[in-house]
Amino acid sequence: MTNAPTFLMTDPAHYEVSYSINPWMDPSRWSAAPDERHRHAVTCWTALRLALEQAGAAVEVVPGQPGLPDMLFPANAAVVLDGRALMARFLYAERQGEEPHFQAFFEQLRDHGRLQEVAQLPEGVVQEGAGDCIWDPLRRHFWVGWGQRSSRESAAAIERHFGFPVVPLELVSPRYYHLDVCFYPLPGGEVVFYPGALSEASRAEIRRRVPADLRIEASSAEADLLCLNAVNLGRDIIMAKGTERLKEELETRGYRCIELDLEPFILSGGAAYCMTLRLDRSSTPLAAGAA
Ligand code: ARG
Repeated sequence: MTNAPTFLMTDPAHYEVSYSINPWMDPSRWSAAPDERHRHAVTCWTALRLALEQAGAAVEVVPGQPGLPDMLFPANAAVVLDGRALMARFLYAERQGEEPHFQAFFEQLRDHGRLQEVAQLPEGVVQEGAGDCIWDPLRRHFWVGWGQRSSRESAAAIERHFGFPVVPLELVSPRYYHLDVCFYPLPGGEVVFYPGALSEASRAEIRRRVPADLRIEASSAEADLLCLNAVNLGRDIIMAKGTERLKEELETRGYRCIELDLEPFILSGGAAYCMTLRLDRSSTPLAAGAA
């Protein structure tokens, strides 16, 4: 047991890009040099783990499974808040096989007293975990993505389950198929996002809730680097290599950007945030300067 912020990652042994369920995934790019790709993936995965540990986090590792390469992205496994896990339900058959493995792992955590509850979504609701359900530590509500992978009704289901407000945001581009690839909130109240991934009504909702000086808008070229898929830990932001502009913008506001090579995972449409799942996410209001 530890008091350090704790993240789940999936052992990369079985990681590959062998099918395509989003526009980033091209299995032929992987199969052209599978051994080299896999070696590179393990190196990059290890660097992310190390960066989290150096930022003061503990990393818990769940085994991957053969034939389920996208288990590598545990952000999609569940929404976790205050020791309560709400298990995901995947849209595509390619990922539905992950559900029993993550379920068993989370039940084990519960049986060891590491979680209080492992719950299921209502019948028929599709929801891809923390990838489409992002906790805003300052505003104390979830931002929920829908329209690509997760269904519209997932927002109400999450709100009922956790008892915290939910702000639904509609995703309009298959390239930005989870909210976590185009949006993240920071503890200072800033929201970093790519407006082109969201419907006009959802952009207006962000403008209504987040004052202009706290809105950090990324360009489409920046979003394309998947550097918005970032892990925030206090003042640290661990992310795929972005642009100087974005880095400067964040560093001027007192954050520290830790940029990593995550190319093997970008080939699957994922990067830092979705390679992790925070297991001890808490709804407790932030103390000044805390994570
Ligand atoms: N290949 C995976 C998929 O399409 C990538 C998932 C990345 N996860 C995320 N939360 N962005 O499902």
